[in-house]
Amino acid sequence: MKRIFSGIQPSGEIHIGNYVGAIRNWSRLADDYDCIFSIVDLHAMTIEYDVSEMRERIIKTAAINFASGLTPDRCIFFVQSHVKEHAELAWIFNCITPIGELERMTQFKMKAQQHRANVNMGLLDYPVLQAADILLYKAEFVPVGEDQVQHVELTRDIARRFNNRFGETFPLPDVLLSDAPKILGTDGKSKMSKSMNNYIGLLESEDVIWEKIRTAVTDENRKRRSDPGNPSICNIYTIHTAFSSPEELDMIDRECRKAGIGCIDCKKILMKNLWKEIAPIQEKAKEFLNNENEVKDILRDGAKKCKQISESVMAEVKEKTGISPF
Ligand code: TRP
Repeated sequence: MKRIFSGIQPSGEIHIGNYVGAIRNWSRLADDYDCIFSIVDLHAMTIEYDVSEMRERIIKTAAINFASGLTPDRCIFFVQSHVKEHAELAWIFNCITPIGELERMTQFKMKAQQHRANVNMGLLDYPVLQAADILLYKAEFVPVGEDQVQHVELTRDIARRFNNRFGETFPLPDVLLSDAPKILGTDGKSKMSKSMNNYIGLLESEDVIWEKIRTAVTDENRKRRSDPGNPSICNIYTIHTAFSSPEELDMIDRECRKAGIGCIDCKKILMKNLWKEIAPIQEKAKEFLNNENEVKDILRDGAKKCKQISESVMAEVKEKTGISPF
């Protein structure tokens, strides 16, 4: 089986955008690939964060992933900082990566704008650490969203440069773009995120989620119930495509366009389907959260498995680069 690597930031509030775009997609890949997934806490340190919240975020992120089917029998799941070889390989890659290539990265330029007061070395080096994550396991595929394509291209450049300079060592990994719909926030405008307060949290209660869906922006041109709507520009319809059946989608598309169904009835169908999928995940996630030791055990175990791979790849890297020869 081909190996996949991907990472998720330890975010305080995992929302349905993260779930559809990353977690559920990973879970679907887990049977067909040899999968390694990581909570990338070292990456999360590149911007300001609340120290007292970090630990809880890591546990919560893990619990949700396990509850969504990413259990140790199907993949390796671990915390990045538990495997020190990530930082070690990043250093070696630093020494073959021109600064100019990092300054050109779109995500760096955006984050440098957003966090003007803290444009630190880690932020610039972020994609090099990401390359180390992927290549440390010689992964061949990287399931990520559109916004990470540039980072995977840089990873290929780094692998190519390393191989040319020190001898054939790393595969050139490819992105595995998911066909998951791009879900916007409940404002129907920007990407769903905690900071924009336009998110639907995966662990929120049924009432809270319904209130958020009920008041979410739909097709803004549809002012009255009797106006026909346009599902192609309606974010609620996009969310439907992630949770509803093809038959329901057909019906909604048809009826919305001729004002046969109103937004509230459409949203009720969405709520029903969304809740059906996430209620069992919430239940399992809560079990994990009530049993933190189990979560920690699984993560520690995952790191142990990673170490077996990462230590041998680092030995090869050290040998090829001529450092620590004895
Ligand atoms: N940068 C990725 C994101 O923000 C997270 C990430 C870190 C990652 N290391 C990775 C993704 C390695 C894929 C492979 O989504």
